[in-house]
Amino acid sequence: MAFPQNFLDELIARSDIVDVVGSYVQLTRKGSNLFGLCPFHSEKTGSFSVSPDKQIYYCFGCKKGGGVVNFIMDEENLTFPDAVRFLAKRAGMEVPEEEGDREAGRRRQRLLDLNRDAARFYYQLLQQPEGRAVQEYLDRRRIKRSTAVKFGMGASLDSWDTLLTAMTKKGYTKAELLEAGLVVQNKNGGLYDKFRNRLMLPVIDTRGDVVAFGSRVLDKSEPKYMNSSETPVYSKRRVLYGLNLAKKTKRPNIILCEGNLDIVTLHQAGFDNAVASMGTALTVEQTRLLSRFTKELVLCYDNDNAGKIATERALQILQNSEFTVRVLQLPRRLVNGEYVKQDADDFIKFQGADAFERLLSGSENGIEFRMAQVAGKYDLADDQARVAYCEEVSDLLAELSNPVEREIYTTRAAEAAKITPEAMKLEVQRAFKRRLSREKRAELRRDLNPAAQLQPKERSFRYDNLRSARAEEGILRLLTMDESLFGPEPPLEPEQFSSPLLGKVFSLLWQAREEGRPTSVAALAGALSQEEMNHITAICQQPESPRNARQALADYIRIVQTEAEKRTGGDADPLLAATEKYKNKKGTGGKQHG
Ligand code: UTP
Ligand code: MN
Repeated sequence: MAFPQNFLDELIARSDIVDVVGSYVQLTRKGSNLFGLCPFHSEKTGSFSVSPDKQIYYCFGCKKGGGVVNFIMDEENLTFPDAVRFLAKRAGMEVPEEEGDREAGRRRQRLLDLNRDAARFYYQLLQQPEGRAVQEYLDRRRIKRSTAVKFGMGASLDSWDTLLTAMTKKGYTKAELLEAGLVVQNKNGGLYDKFRNRLMLPVIDTRGDVVAFGSRVLDKSEPKYMNSSETPVYSKRRVLYGLNLAKKTKRPNIILCEGNLDIVTLHQAGFDNAVASMGTALTVEQTRLLSRFTKELVLCYDNDNAGKIATERALQILQNSEFTVRVLQLPRRLVNGEYVKQDADDFIKFQGADAFERLLSGSENGIEFRMAQVAGKYDLADDQARVAYCEEVSDLLAELSNPVEREIYTTRAAEAAKITPEAMKLEVQRAFKRRLSREKRAELRRDLNPAAQLQPKERSFRYDNLRSARAEEGILRLLTMDESLFGPEPPLEPEQFSSPLLGKVFSLLWQAREEGRPTSVAALAGALSQEEMNHITAICQQPESPRNARQALADYIRIVQTEAEKRTGGDADPLLAATEKYKNKKGTGGKQHG
């Protein structure tokens, strides 16, 4: 643990969850809890609760929960240590940095320095005669010198160790080069450069650090693009190529594309607001990042099937988000009597920047795009097809929460289907009812299947013994609610718990108690993963009557003991057998902060 426990306890005590959450979410009191709209998923009725007594938040909709530190981790998209620093600043507390922490910070900085030095090295090679092949490739793609400089482009050579040698000379160790993903190890342990004979595209984050590299071959060989693997300073889910430049744009929106070189071409053509996610679909982390710079996104994916799927997925992620979303559809291009797909790079090359500007200003919003997709499936001259169209498009319209929007697009769909707006409206109302009853049925199915409902959402910590696990949950709930119910000795060994996760949490809480610290959910933030935390919060937010607490605790303990004995057959040493079982289950769900 990087921070001293007493510091964390004080920080949590000084960061009241109602104050902290209240500065992000509007909360209304209902009974002993407060409720609001969940910031982690889109919803219209508040299923997000905050308990001032337990100092936890929990969403009944998306099942996220935790203490104040977890909330900041999720809301501000921060790692555990960064969330702690964030809260400390807010509470006006000084953060005691530990040796281990400083060490991790130093290692990160070394990796960033190495990436920067490697980028400089590749950059210099591009300016020299050895970099000719790459320079010629850039010329072929009509990438100007000034653009290449702006993106910090470079060249890797057709050699196994140019970078390895240069960086070793600069004092970087083999371990550091491996950790940065710049060199690779062969079967015999020998090292060689990962990137060879490629155009090098440094990936620069919004702080200006070189966190990774993308790269492209110069010919038709495979793989076309090769990117850095994940490293301690690079997670592709959290980075967008070109955002270091696009964040300074004067344009009102940010354009999302598929390819790195699309970004380069767009910037060169004056669209300095373009970014790309590298080899992944748009992620939630990336949308959080974007929200710091813009409230309007334009999706500009390739005009092929994969691009349509990517668009649909992005629209889903962005549905009911704070962003206004538009879809820019690139037209296909006629080549020798055949229509072929083109990306932003092709379009700019063949049609020019002005044409792109026109597409950009005329781009449709998300619902228009989806309606056009549906319309494209049917021959609207055919009566039967029109009926099917009406049904499918009304499903789409029934999802719109804004009534004005719903009315406008209902009218438009009616025009397309050549029916009266009134008839279309009826169709949408029916779709709305269909949706409600679908949701009700799903809810009913859940209610009728209590065993499934009691199981944790996360598969990796599903319960083997539901009866025991329910009692174990009760013990944790009581321990966090009122630890004075417990005697001086632990009533159970963690090994007697049937669920490894619950056993682990029990021993963490018990240890806190023995050290005279609070046995609270919030204090577990540093020791559990977010998924584990969600589950433990779900358990602890459930009501437990204080009146019968003592009796309930005795019952819970007895159940866990009985079930543990059953498990071990009663004859073998129960502790030993339970320990064996615990060992076998180790590795399922652990600490993971990145
Ligand atoms: P595309 O294959 O559509 O390439 O990949 P592109 O951007 O049009 O490339 P050019 O114009 O031929 O240079 C789109 C993006 O998907 C990722 C890259 O980020 C690429 O820019 N990708 C593609 C990979 O990560 N690996 C690959 O092998 C291919
Ligand atoms: Mn391309």
